[in-house]
Amino acid sequence: MLSSASSQATFTAMDHSTEEEWRLIASETVANWPRVAEQILSMLAQLESITDGFAVNQLVHSLQTATRAERDGADDEVIVASLCHDIGKVISVANHPRIAAEILRPYVRAEVASMIEAHQDFQGKHYYSYLGMDPTLRSNHVDAPWYSLAERFADDWDQTSFDPSYDTLPLEHFEPIVRRVFAQPRSM
Ligand SMILES: [Fe+2]
Repeated sequence: MLSSASSQATFTAMDHSTEEEWRLIASETVANWPRVAEQILSMLAQLESITDGFAVNQLVHSLQTATRAERDGADDEVIVASLCHDIGKVISVANHPRIAAEILRPYVRAEVASMIEAHQDFQGKHYYSYLGMDPTLRSNHVDAPWYSLAERFADDWDQTSFDPSYDTLPLEHFEPIVRRVFAQPRSM
């Protein structure tokens, strides 16, 4: 049963819910899809407070990575993935690639999400040896259809984007493309 305002269900346990209520919840959920992009922009802004010893904070790093991708002619999904590749650091550095990949996965083609999930293995070529780790982990993905895209992302855009003097585009520049890519999921 719906409330008198008909904007909310009244069930207090799902086993008392009705089809009418679930139709309402489904339509409200779709109507609220634009909330996703706003949450993404909010999380990106929070990256400004994370530096962890790097020469630039994580917002500048993310913006610079996306700027380089855009200037190299990457498509919208790859630009947004570049912008969001470290967004998981807002929660936890330890599993940030998987957090970012799962945020992106419903909104981008599969190879783009896979590239982000594996991006640290590709980055490792440039520093894992300093931390006693295997710098060749990217070779585990050599047969993946997204391997060359992940190499381009890691080598040309991500690992080069710690430069305070680079002409980095601001977050406002990317707001329209974030709203476009996160407008609605390709899959649920
Ligand atoms: Fe990065």
